[in-house]
Amino acid sequence: GSLEMYVDALPQMPKIYGYSLSGGRPSSIKLTIGMFVKKWKFHRDLPPTTVFVYGTDPVKATFPGPTIEALQGVPLWVTWQNFLPAHHILPWDPTIPVAIPSHGGVPTVVHLHGGIHPPQSDGNPFAWFTAGFRDVGSKWTQATYMYPNIQCPGNLWYHDHALGLTRANLVAGLIGAYVLRNFTTEALLGLPSSDLFDLHLVIADRSFYKDGSLYMNCTGDNPNIHPEWQPEYFGEAITVNGKAWPFLVVLRRRYRFRIINSSNARYFNLSLSNNLPFTVIGSDSTYLYKPVMTQTILLAPSEIFDVVIDFTHSPTASAELMNSAPYPYPDGQEPNNLDGKVMKFVIPALPVPDNSWVPPTMENYVASDVTEAVKHRYIVLYEYNSQTDGPTHLYINGLQFEDPATETPRPGTTEIWDVINLTGDNHPLHLHLATFRAKTVTQIQDLDTFKNCMMVLNDAEKCNVSQHAVGPTVPMPDYENTWKNVVKMAPGNMTTIVVKFRLVHDNGSYPFDATAEPGYVYHCHILDHEDNEMIRPLKLTYN
Ligand code: C2O
Ligand code: CU
Repeated sequence: GSLEMYVDALPQMPKIYGYSLSGGRPSSIKLTIGMFVKKWKFHRDLPPTTVFVYGTDPVKATFPGPTIEALQGVPLWVTWQNFLPAHHILPWDPTIPVAIPSHGGVPTVVHLHGGIHPPQSDGNPFAWFTAGFRDVGSKWTQATYMYPNIQCPGNLWYHDHALGLTRANLVAGLIGAYVLRNFTTEALLGLPSSDLFDLHLVIADRSFYKDGSLYMNCTGDNPNIHPEWQPEYFGEAITVNGKAWPFLVVLRRRYRFRIINSSNARYFNLSLSNNLPFTVIGSDSTYLYKPVMTQTILLAPSEIFDVVIDFTHSPTASAELMNSAPYPYPDGQEPNNLDGKVMKFVIPALPVPDNSWVPPTMENYVASDVTEAVKHRYIVLYEYNSQTDGPTHLYINGLQFEDPATETPRPGTTEIWDVINLTGDNHPLHLHLATFRAKTVTQIQDLDTFKNCMMVLNDAEKCNVSQHAVGPTVPMPDYENTWKNVVKMAPGNMTTIVVKFRLVHDNGSYPFDATAEPGYVYHCHILDHEDNEMIRPLKLTYN
């Protein structure tokens, strides 16, 4: 039988503060955070599961890892240490480009997703390392990373990024939340706050064997080409903060939830079973200018929405957080009774005093000005299939990750990228360092002709993109109308994004050398796609 829902209370992960307040004003500190193998209890009735998790020590390590709280303007140094064993707990595939250490062990490298920081601290897939730094990848430079925290307050997360192992390392548990705060501006906003009313929901779908161990399909769709790689990992249990289908007893008042989809491939179309709305106040990277009320939120892998739920007028004594997104998204299977449910809120009868509110406006960042763009690029998403079976690999612009960088923007500039999705799936496109927003989503007409031409010529202009990208435009939901670091790319559409390689809150450029080696990357955040090779270098340059 399947696991009973709503029997485990939703935990909040332990917090680590990325600054010191001793001496009156906030100052920088240096943290050491390890990766450990340990047992984690995902459900009352499931035996403990072996996981790979972050923590300051093995006892305190959690799935997801501790939530790091940093302050805007206060740099944070973190030494990431690998204490993982000789062998992985999950299958991986040597036929895709993958980190293979000569002395065994589990290669890892940490990326702060959404962070604006120097390339040497970015967690490049080739900068991996094993326990004790015994083996390191070709682009490894340093053990201690520096996060300047110069960007807008917002929601980030950290996770593994090792070459060809990202999907397995995240399924194993190498994920955690990171919040960038500014006490002054946040106090003025008056949103629900404190460790009681400002909470994280880190969602992850996972499958388990009866003995509690994590299950990951290890027979490839194309076993002669890739014996173990699967195009998408979908788990049938939905975990939030490391518990399968948990419940949270709330008070009848407003709460702020920072919802992170840390799943490999599963999209979530979230709603509340008693029809209470979400008030979206922010996304990944930034606040919205104005709050947006909505009944549903579509959350792609790695996407973050920062929402307020007001339980004050709940018509019911409980509310289930529901998911209606098919998988793969958008043309796959409908979710069933298991993956169609996420968690439950239990709501007592009597309202309590609540002096929080949702302000009419939040942050007003610079607009996305197309005219300031100095460069236009086509970015084309391809999927290649074998004669008989499913996908064999996915490329961006027909190129491998190892091919020399073609996206080489100049620091401080703005670019327009037309992202053309020739596949049947939606892909969450994530850029490191940059912040961007979608301008328009345009259906590609006569898609098959265009696609056939692209599969041969791999050149949008020669394939007459301007005569094909003329279909009806699809409006973006208002709750995505802000600067982001991941945007959903709809199949058969061209999504035009305005990309800033500069700080969006003051238009300043970066106070570090963004052109240094090993550079950055951009990729699809379906981890199984990213690992096989929907990823490209992003190398800033002054040339
Ligand atoms: Cu969330 Cu390149 O990653
Ligand atoms: Cu993808």
